[in-house]
Formats: sequence, structure tokens, C-alpha cells
Amino acid sequence: MAPNTVVAATFAGMVMAGAGVVFGDSPTTPVESLRPASAFDSITNETARSQALFEEAARVITHPRCMNCHPVTRTPAQGDDRHPHIPFIDASASDHGPDGLRCAACHGPDNRTILGSRLTSIPGNPHWSLAPQSMGWQGLSPGDICKQLKDPARNGGRSLTDLIRHANEDHLVAWAWHPGQGRTPAPGDQATFGALVAAWIGTGAVCPE
Ligand code: HEC
Ligand code: HEC
Repeated sequence: MAPNTVVAATFAGMVMAGAGVVFGDSPTTPVESLRPASAFDSITNETARSQALFEEAARVITHPRCMNCHPVTRTPAQGDDRHPHIPFIDASASDHGPDGLRCAACHGPDNRTILGSRLTSIPGNPHWSLAPQSMGWQGLSPGDICKQLKDPARNGGRSLTDLIRHANEDHLVAWAWHPGQGRTPAPGDQATFGALVAAWIGTGAVCPE
């Protein structure tokens, strides 16, 4: 990167951060930490270790940043309180929203900061859409989410190896740690989450009770 680009990027960052202080009405919540897979090495019973690894990964999976897009109804949720999406979106005909009110009509390829608005940003990603019905998690216990995740009939035909790749590399998953101004990121970071999923699978992918 040329030196002047660095200066420009840093300046843009300062303007954005400043804008948050001046216009944003939600305080910046610190990111919750996530324990690394190695923190579970001391559990000698492999079944218990596997379950504990999943429970820790489930702190990400059950976070509003993931859950809001993985409903059991056909409408997304918003915010840390998981209120129904405003405006109401009926995604029963398509995970991309009804004709005339597609997700992409409002959700662009990137998060968009809105200055001077109560809404501090609109989240965005090129693949923004609702998780399919079979992948709905809201209201399920970590144990039930775990069983569903492992079931190719409900997880989009994925092998356990595919799940590790999805956790580590998927762009919608990645968004949860870069959710845009005014939104709390998921605990930890994606690499720690991906390593927990890999360690859970490496210890037999045992689900919590
Ligand atoms: C913008 C909406 C959105 C967000 C946010 C989102 N997902 Fe998803 N998720 C989807 C969609 C759509 C699919 C189905 C796409 C596919 O099968 O490739 C999916 C599929 C999945 C799958 C694979 C299928 C399954 O359920 O077994 C996993 C695992 C998953 N998401 C995890 C997460 C996690 C973890 C987070 C948060 C860190 C997250 N997702 C956030 C929309 C989202
Ligand atoms: C009419 C515009 C509009 C349409 C259409 C729309 N959204 Fe949204 N959506 C928004 C706005 C604005 C926000 C930010 C609101 C906020 O943060 O309070 C938002 C927030 C969200 C969030 C919350 C993110 C979080 O974790 O807080 C999810 C999930 C979401 N939308 C999913 C979808 C999906 C999936 C579709 C299509 C099926 C869709 N939206 C269609 C405007 C729209």
C-alpha cells in the first residue's frame, strides 16, 4: 500500500469513528471473549470434552448476530433483543424475500453507515438472505441445534468437514464479527470459533444433552 493510501485510510477510519461518537446513539459494547479450544484440553473424558467444546461454540451460534438470520418462522429478527424485522418481511416464498421487497433492496454488498439517523447502519453482504427453514435455530437448545447441524438432511447436505469449512470461511458467518456500527459483534473472533468447531468434530462431534 502506498504511504498516502495509508494516511487516507487512517483518516477515513477517524472520520467514521468520530461520526459514531457524534451521531450514534448506541454505546459500543465490548466484544465478549470466547475461550480457545486449548482451554478444554484438561477435560480428559473425550465425550465430555466434545460436549464442552460445542457448548462454547454455541455461545456464537446462539448470539443474536447469527440467530436473527436463522429463525424457525420465515421472518428475520433484528437487534440484540431479537425483535421481528421492521418492516415485516415474509420470506416464505423465497429466502431472498418476496417479489418487490428482496433483501437486496435494502441490504447492499457491505454494511452502510447512516449518519444522523437512529439506525446507525444497515447490515450488508453480497449473499444476504434468510437461512432456509431446515436451518432454523431460534428457540432450540444447544443440544438440538447440534443434532440439526450434523444432519445432512437439514444442514444443506454438508459433511462434518464441510461444516468446519463453513465455520471458518463463510462470508455470512464472517459478517457476525463485522456487523456494522451500532451492533454488538459475536463473541471472540471467527478463527477461534472455527477452531472450536474443528476440535468438537475432532473429538467425535458429541452433542450436549
Ligand atoms: C444474513 C443472514 C445470515 C447470518 C447473519 C448468518 N447466517 Fe448462517 N446461513 C445463512 C444462509 C442463507 C444459510 C444457507 C446457505 C448455504 O446453505 O450455503 C446459512 C447456513 C448456515 C450453516 C450451515 C447449515 C446449517 O445450519 O447446518 C451454518 C453452520 C451457519 N449458517 C452458521 C452461522 C453462524 C455460526 C452465524 C453467526 C456467526 C451465521 N450463520 C450467521 C444466513 C445467515
Ligand atoms: C425495506 C428494507 C429491508 C428489506 C427488504 C430487508 N431488510 Fe433486513 N434490515 C433492514 C434495516 C434497515 C436493518 C437494520 C435495522 C436495525 O439495525 O435496527 C435490517 C436488519 C436486518 C437484520 C438484523 C441484523 C442484526 O443482527 O441485528 C437481519 C437478520 C435482516 N435485516 C435480514 C433480512 C433478510 C434475510 C431480508 C430478506 C429476506 C431482509 N432483511 C430484508 C432493512 C431491510
